[in-house]
Amino acid sequence: MSSPTPSSPPARLTGRTVLITGGSRGQGASHAERLASEGARVLACDVLDDEGKATAARLQEAGLDVEYLHLDVTSPDDWAAAVEHARRTTGRLDVLVNNAGIIHVNPLLDERARDWNATLAVNTTGPLLGIQAAAPLMRSGGGGSIINIASIFGVVGAAGYVAYCASKGALIALTKTAALELAADGIRVNALCPGGVSTPMNEHEKEGGVIPQTPLGRRAHVREISGAVAFLASEDSSFTTGTEMIIDGGFLAH
Ligand SMILES: NC(=O)c1ccc[n+]([C@@H]2O[C@H](COP(=O)([O-])OP(=O)(O)OC[C@H]3O[C@@H](n4cnc5c(N)ncnc54)[C@H](O)[C@@H]3O)[C@@H](O)[C@H]2O)c1
Repeated sequence: MSSPTPSSPPARLTGRTVLITGGSRGQGASHAERLASEGARVLACDVLDDEGKATAARLQEAGLDVEYLHLDVTSPDDWAAAVEHARRTTGRLDVLVNNAGIIHVNPLLDERARDWNATLAVNTTGPLLGIQAAAPLMRSGGGGSIINIASIFGVVGAAGYVAYCASKGALIALTKTAALELAADGIRVNALCPGGVSTPMNEHEKEGGVIPQTPLGRRAHVREISGAVAFLASEDSSFTTGTEMIIDGGFLAH
């Protein structure tokens, strides 16, 4: 089965400011490209500075409004600086995509507190810090959309990935609570749960990772996730909050 061919996206995000974490490569870089293609000004943030600058330069050359910013999602100071940058340069923040994530493999009984805590710090605490930093500026602009990139492995378990699964399950629960607390401010909060996606994160996987259990028989192309991010970022999803959107080629249909 072939991956989708790119088509001209609608311009649903003109005048919007978007902050994406983990924007240097993989899914985050693709989300930056898609949301900027729909008219947004995108701040692509990461700790991989060289890759991030190269990605932003490539997208700028294509005529897109994408700027790279250094942001370690575990640092409240970095979050404050990034949101202040959005306020100073555009006066607003409309969309936050909490996409940065890490993974490591350890059997449950060998899991170390250090690895467990590091995984939760990036995958779960990072989005919490981001929501806390971004919500006041979103609220002052009349609302916004927060998209937390979770995983099918926040919904079901995966042997060897205990910290990753716990971090993504907690992120889904965080999403629902944030949706309840921020609805009155016009801020929608949703989780997006991809199945296998071809990115540097799963290059290490032997035997295709989840492909054998995926009815569509392949990993997603990053663009197939970006289309869902664009939907959740735009007013097309204006009645969608507190949900987890599954994009997994049928993995969870078993
Ligand atoms: N690839 C998959 O199969 C898959 C499936 C489901 C969910 N996800 C999730 O999708 C998201 C994107 O992952 P990807 O597949 O593009 O992998 P990736 O490894 O290519 O991208 C992750 C990005 O996060 C960045 N990052 C890591 N720690 C950071 C930190 N402390 N601060 C800021 N940035 C940091 C990395 O530098 C990298 O650019 C992750 O949250 C991941 O858990 C991936």
